[in-house]
Amino acid sequence: TSAGLVDRYGRVATDLRVSLTDRCNLRCSYCMPPEGLPWLPNSDVLTDDEIIRLVRIAVERLGVREVRFTGGEPLIRPGLTKIVAASAELAPRPQLSLTTNGIGLDKLARSLRAAGLDRVNVSLDTLDADRFERLTHRRRLPDVLAGLVAAGATGLHPVKINSVLMRGVNDDEAPALLRFALAAGYELRFIEQMPLDAQHAWDRTKMITAAEILASLQAEFTLQADPAERGGAPAETWLVAGWTAPDGEPAKVGVIGSVTRPFCGDCDRTRLTADGQVRACLFATEESDLRGALRGGADDEEIARRWRAAMWTKRAGHGIDNPAFLQPARPMSAIGG
Ligand code: GTP
Ligand code: 5AD
Ligand code: SF4
Repeated sequence: TSAGLVDRYGRVATDLRVSLTDRCNLRCSYCMPPEGLPWLPNSDVLTDDEIIRLVRIAVERLGVREVRFTGGEPLIRPGLTKIVAASAELAPRPQLSLTTNGIGLDKLARSLRAAGLDRVNVSLDTLDADRFERLTHRRRLPDVLAGLVAAGATGLHPVKINSVLMRGVNDDEAPALLRFALAAGYELRFIEQMPLDAQHAWDRTKMITAAEILASLQAEFTLQADPAERGGAPAETWLVAGWTAPDGEPAKVGVIGSVTRPFCGDCDRTRLTADGQVRACLFATEESDLRGALRGGADDEEIARRWRAAMWTKRAGHGIDNPAFLQPARPMSAIGG
């Protein structure tokens, strides 16, 4: 569609990721320092109505079919349920999902489901309470587990779990995480750590690779390549022999090898930050200011035009392996995973 979000390589962005806040109630070491970060001032953060308007423009004028709410931690945004409900009323109705650390999901799952949320991805890197505290600087593993249970019980299917493995921290836990996920009916994906931390401590040689993750799983499980089309999904998936998912299909495990097996060529994403900047890529070095346009009185078509123009800056790939690679100026928590 000529009116959609097409980039110069012919990719079309139909998947919008909206960061609802840069704040978080955990301090995962691969994301931010224990003391937190200088958060965005409230006046810079889009209001609920501004977010709803931009999502509407994306769906009505730009061909976006899937909207994922991220953060920081999206559950701490008071207007989340209202934003979900307004998004669910758009035509054509987009698929609506949430990426969360799970804290508070036990209390919010029902109202989010009722508002129209389709599914959730919950981050969980360890099943050990002490390790969880070392990793996140907060003692909140039980809250996350309660959130997972509530998501499953409320019908936010499939419930996916995202796990980042770190060398010497939790890299021995891949089989245990998979056993847990299979038994409870969650779809687990392991993620290669990316250079998006505020501390700039990422080290390629310390990263647990997709190949290592698969090897450690194969010590305990028989994995078969998933015959299903991958499409623009970041995860490569495998069927786990002998296990069935809650929907009766063979159970799956995924690996998101963003660094060693990038999916940039099939990327169908565009991003909106909590302060109203469009990013064509997770690793983009440029942002386009929609908040200024919005608050300056631009009409819907003008906003749509700026959004289309922003996609033209999207690069072919993230370029992490390029010696000249520079981490984006803002960390993951401000960009939105
Ligand atoms: P599904 O639609 O459920 O597959 O969601 P998802 O995997 O796209 O989203 P999620 O928010 O759960 O992200 C999982 C991991 O993929 C996180 O580490 C994200 O940072 C990473 N990810 C999401 N979008 C991109 C992207 O555009 N590029 C890269 N390299 N990684 C991404
Ligand atoms: N590399 C890879 N994944 C990350 N996440 C956060 N920071 C990083 C990083 N540096 C994950 C979170 C969450 C998802 C949005 O991204 O664990 O599951
Ligand atoms: Fe797409 Fe950029 Fe992510 Fe690559 S790094 S998959 S181009 S958003």
